[in-house]
Amino acid sequence: MATALVTGASYGIGADIARALAARGHDLVLIARSGEALGRLAARLEAEHGVKAHALPADLTVEADLERVAEAAHGADILVNNAGAGLSRSFERTTWAQEQHMLALNVVAPARLLHAALPSMLQRGKGRILNVSSVAAAGPVWQGTTYGASKAFSLALTESLAHSRRLRRSPVALTALVLGHTVSRFHEVAGIAPSPRLLTLPSSYVAQRAVRAIHRRRPPIAYVPSLRYKLLAGLVRHLPRPLVALPALADDFTALPFPETGPYARAPRSGGGDDEYGVLSPEPGGDRQRQR
Ligand SMILES: NC(=O)c1ccc[n+]([C@@H]2O[C@H](COP(=O)([O-])OP(=O)(O)OC[C@H]3O[C@@H](n4cnc5c(N)ncnc54)[C@H](OP(=O)(O)O)[C@@H]3O)[C@@H](O)[C@H]2O)c1
Repeated sequence: MATALVTGASYGIGADIARALAARGHDLVLIARSGEALGRLAARLEAEHGVKAHALPADLTVEADLERVAEAAHGADILVNNAGAGLSRSFERTTWAQEQHMLALNVVAPARLLHAALPSMLQRGKGRILNVSSVAAAGPVWQGTTYGASKAFSLALTESLAHSRRLRRSPVALTALVLGHTVSRFHEVAGIAPSPRLLTLPSSYVAQRAVRAIHRRRPPIAYVPSLRYKLLAGLVRHLPRPLVALPALADDFTALPFPETGPYARAPRSGGGDDEYGVLSPEPGGDRQRQR
């Protein structure tokens, strides 16, 4: 049977993807930082499905760990780049360490593992890659943060590779899983309020749909596992940007008022000099002339 390497498998969507893969009889290599949770899941999947499951604890933002996982990815028949995280603050309020951490996890790690796995899959003439992206990749639904941009990288890389002649002629296939709000620890970990129920999908549902999709003879390049989110992602992608930016469609963290004190306090308003507005002085009425 094929061996699947799943990142972010200790809980949330990754753990459900691992369950769905084990149910199809695949052996597993499970990656996350929480070694104990991984060990428990591996033992359970072995007992319930008679597969081999190996827990490989690793922090994908640490280069040495990432290289250990890349080594394991060489031999994988299925690679699931699922581990990821969001940020609750908008770009101008985060620390650079927070940005670096998120980009290392959401952008660098999946690209590294894909780079490790793809050549051997092509050589063996079989393989499936699932990159977990988001509807936030389609446009500014998560305004003012780098999260959407990091997920746009995942979608763009998947599409760019999957449409290449080399991949189109090969039985190896890549799929971007374009997810809407899904029940997991994601929002809690990022410190974001949970989504309205109407917009929330069960993690086991999206995992099973995604695993079924990558087992098709011709897997989809971008897969949205819900009609609601297919419509929403289509709208977000094609509507004029000012409409997409309506608060009803967006978690607009940048709309939160700036605190009057503390490290994120708004600079005092004077007549407007270079310090306050960058290199340009404000023009009369400039406050209303916002960037569009
Ligand atoms: N939930 C949603 O609404 C939603 C929507 C769109 C897209 N997504 C995407 O879905 C994917 C899975 O997210 P989720 O919702 O399942 O979130 P989650 O419940 O927070 O799970 C995240 C997983 O990633 C692992 N992880 C986090 N940091 C890591 C690191 N530095 N190194 C290794 N593993 C790490 C976590 O395990 P440890 O803490 O044990 O390391 C956990 O297994 C992410 O790529 C996310 O962007 C989620």
